[in-house]
Amino acid sequence: MTATIGTDVSHAARLLEQGQVVAIPTETVYGLAADALNEAAVIKVFEAKQRPAFDPLIVHVHSIGQVHEVVRNVPPEAEALMRHFWPGPLTLVLPKLPRIPDLVTSGLDTVGVRMPAHPLTLDLLRMLPFPLAAPSANPFGYVSPTTAQHVMDQLGTRIPYILDGGPCTVGVESTILGMEEGRWVLYRPGGVPLEAIEGVIGTVRPQVRHVLPVAPGMLESHYAPRKPVHIGDIAQLMEAHPVRCGVISFTHDHGAWRNEVLSPRGDLGEAARKLFAALRTLDAGDAEVILAEVFPGEGLGRAINDRLARAAAKR
Ligand code: TXA
Ligand code: MG
Repeated sequence: MTATIGTDVSHAARLLEQGQVVAIPTETVYGLAADALNEAAVIKVFEAKQRPAFDPLIVHVHSIGQVHEVVRNVPPEAEALMRHFWPGPLTLVLPKLPRIPDLVTSGLDTVGVRMPAHPLTLDLLRMLPFPLAAPSANPFGYVSPTTAQHVMDQLGTRIPYILDGGPCTVGVESTILGMEEGRWVLYRPGGVPLEAIEGVIGTVRPQVRHVLPVAPGMLESHYAPRKPVHIGDIAQLMEAHPVRCGVISFTHDHGAWRNEVLSPRGDLGEAARKLFAALRTLDAGDAEVILAEVFPGEGLGRAINDRLARAAAKR
């Protein structure tokens, strides 16, 4: 099988109705979508990604109304968050209805739901009589794709169609929030800054490390390129690594062998948008190690630092 890249939403809808897997654009990263209510279709997603079955999928909906087809109970604060941030890069983990197959949630009694902010994918969702389960469209453990070509490069022989919605405008995955003992917990920093969420529902607890990953986006070695990645002060790191270095920095060039400056004007949103493509470029190029700065720990900087830390974690 070789994937076709195109913008034909009806064709994508037909394939999904037949139980096939289609790559879809979202504002965060590309997703690998299947009918969330069809277990046989969802299995194909796990197969294409080579993803372990203990890592649950996010269910994508076209409206707040459709959440009620998926979730047992929507607490008022969750409703407030949806009204503020949807469509957009926020996933809420809520008690699931039995019609969502266990495979989607890895046997958990909760399901992650989000309404993505991409016009093509919203059109697609509105055409379909079911929501779409979709993880990021990368092989398990690798950097997430932010263009249709990224998906083609890695999964092009495993899926029939890639719906091309252009480069992703946010560039890092959604922020994931769940509830534990009646309090909101941040499972994954992402496209909606924590500060903005706390502006709506007050203080959110940082994620606690569990022995078993509750949200395997929490797996330390997620988002890892093949080359070694080190994070810290670039001058010191370059001294410690007297080889060809590829450097990811925020605003300025460090004069390394290869340099990926994410935002000369110092905009964390722009940096987030370019992060995964920069990791891919350095991973594919002739640098021997990848070095990255620590980004400011606010706004989208939190998600950037989180992804870089996971990229650097030893597998
Ligand atoms: O921006 C995004 O969220 C993208 C786009 C495609 O929507 N999707 C994405 O999916 O990043 P994925 O599968 O790469 O990461 C989803 C993470 C899982 O690794 C898991 O940690 C968490 O969401 N998750 C999903 N359902 C959960 C649940 N019921 N409880 C806890 N965590 C859950
Ligand atoms: Mg992922």
